[in-house]
Amino acid sequence: MAKKPPKASNASTDEAQPRYAVNYREIQPYGTLKDLPIALEDNARAQSVEILNQILVDTITLRDMYKKHHWQMSGATFYQLHLLLDKHFEEQSDLVDMIAERIMALGGISIAMAPDVAEMTRIPRPPKGREDVPSQLARLLEAHEIILRQAHEGAEAADESGDDGTNDLLVSNIIRTGEPQVWFLAEHLAATELVRPNA
Ligand SMILES: [Fe+2]
Repeated sequence: MAKKPPKASNASTDEAQPRYAVNYREIQPYGTLKDLPIALEDNARAQSVEILNQILVDTITLRDMYKKHHWQMSGATFYQLHLLLDKHFEEQSDLVDMIAERIMALGGISIAMAPDVAEMTRIPRPPKGREDVPSQLARLLEAHEIILRQAHEGAEAADESGDDGTNDLLVSNIIRTGEPQVWFLAEHLAATELVRPNA
């Protein structure tokens, strides 16, 4: 929607006047591909864009869940987990940027805004309230597995279509970052004790 134009009478001749009263204009509809000379067939690019957008919205959701639980952590291991979850948040943030930019490099359009992410993600929505630590960790593990399963399937599809770059992103970044994060989280759910009761 057009905003009110500036009042200055000489606005049209004043080079310093920012012209912010623009009509918003979409230049590429969602779901379309731009033609780019990257030696990949259109159907291979379209398939990868669809796979990557699903992994993108789920990775954005996992990233945000890490921050939720970083803030809402509790208990004796609060400090360790508070720091660990923020480290994973940073690593997932880097992945979000890599996936989104891969989609654009393929000629597609990356999902970006929260309402679209909420509509598309396959990761179950946590409550607005605060959960206990086992729930927080189990939710993160569930989200990781949803993404890892998609990444394996997507890597295979990209390999078959000849999209080596997407295959590499899914294997070298998504899978190789997600697996050790799962390891670090899952070890907190082992019911071990530092000292044996009767030692
Ligand atoms: Fe923080």
